[in-house]
Amino acid sequence: MLYIGVDLGTSAVKLLLMDEKGEIKKIVSKEYPIYFPNPGWSEQNPEDWWKGCVEGIRELTADCDKSQIAGLSFGGQMHGLVILDKEDRVIRPALLWNDGRTAKETDYLNNVIGKEALSSYTANIAFTGFTAPKLLWIKNNEPENFSRIEKIMLPKDYLAYKMTGRHCTDVSDASGMLVFDVKNRCWSKEMLEICGIREDQLAHIYESYERVGTLTESAAAELGLPSTVTVAAGAGDNAAAAVGTGTVNDGNCNISLGTSGTIFISSKQFGVDKFNALHSFAHANGCYHLMGCMLSAASCNKWWMEDIIGTTDYAAEQAHIHQLGKNNVYFLPYLMGERSPHNDPNARGTFIGMSMDTSRNDMTQAVLEGVAFALRDSFEVARTLGISIERTAICGGGAKSPLWKKIIANVLNVKVDILKTEEGPAYGGAILAAVACGEFPDVTSAARALIQVVDTVEPEPELAAAYDKKYETFRALYPRMKDLFQIL
Ligand code: XUL
Repeated sequence: MLYIGVDLGTSAVKLLLMDEKGEIKKIVSKEYPIYFPNPGWSEQNPEDWWKGCVEGIRELTADCDKSQIAGLSFGGQMHGLVILDKEDRVIRPALLWNDGRTAKETDYLNNVIGKEALSSYTANIAFTGFTAPKLLWIKNNEPENFSRIEKIMLPKDYLAYKMTGRHCTDVSDASGMLVFDVKNRCWSKEMLEICGIREDQLAHIYESYERVGTLTESAAAELGLPSTVTVAAGAGDNAAAAVGTGTVNDGNCNISLGTSGTIFISSKQFGVDKFNALHSFAHANGCYHLMGCMLSAASCNKWWMEDIIGTTDYAAEQAHIHQLGKNNVYFLPYLMGERSPHNDPNARGTFIGMSMDTSRNDMTQAVLEGVAFALRDSFEVARTLGISIERTAICGGGAKSPLWKKIIANVLNVKVDILKTEEGPAYGGAILAAVACGEFPDVTSAARALIQVVDTVEPEPELAAAYDKKYETFRALYPRMKDLFQIL
């Protein structure tokens, strides 16, 4: 049988066709625009997601036996707010996970409602990109739109809705809304009241591997698929990526180097750290995870390569970099503000340390290193919780660079496992579909059966020690810049 994984990303939707042995048959990607209507704002049109998904699935399945397609599921960009009116029309463009407009609402939630109360209701505190502050922003700034809201959705759930007609979500993605009680895997009554919404505006909650339904006749016709295809709820992209990289056992780690950069630590038990510095979310395998998320990771490199120095040949540019551990230029990767661990929408990208002998290569290297150092900030939080991480999987566009993987292995001083399949969220989505169709008894055993490590990047003691020193300097920069960012 065949399974489709849909990774609804920020720059494109990636679609993957997998057979029951986990072999990838085809991958297709369709890009769509992202809008930044004001500094720090970030929006997309849900109809663009659907259009990309329809075109992508048609292309993906053009030359396969469609009667073999048994199931489909998702990994989706998290936290985005999609609102529909009573005619099922999208009320306004979606506010995305990296949208920083909600500083006031986030401040209200953290300081008036209080972090302790939020953590007791949801296991998390407020961050600007989370969904609850966005709902409050719409309520405060667009009351007419707020009054028309009939359904509240997350990005991938909009696709599931278009496919099945069902208003559904899954536990991992719901965790990032700040209206979900992560520990008990249900909506939080207190948070509904704080946000001024009703439970019937929210979706029915599924485990990520559960079957939501099959395609409606009209969706089947539009997608060119049989209406018997099972649609499983799917997961937030990071939980789906964790499934797709085999990050399903207690203490396993995955790093995702996509538009955002995340470290994801899977855990059998529910847990919250004292300062809520890491997100505490439900996992797609029925368990839990901790996560740190930086808002700009591979997107920093893309910005530097394409928008600033004007090249798309990343590999050629990186081929000139040989002086690892010796760079005097630092880059703070806060192009969209920062989430973990600083929770600061005012933070901005910064180069520091240049001199007359600084070269283009030093600056390119500083971008790659700056992202690795910022990931280490979240790693350090995990370490203070007594979590020791010796190795990690890695996925996302940035993981295609051997140089970046080497930098990450040495900055974090961990072994980085290279997997046969680095298609994280899309592969995870296809695995969730296979589990929903009964191909595997559960997500953990499916991931164990399908994911293969083909190589490992080992940290080198001397280089790791050099980066340790550099990290201390990097770490000292943000606190000194913080007030300046406020003025900027
Ligand atoms: C996670 C997060 C990002 C998005 C990117 O909390 O905001 O990783 O899911 O798609």
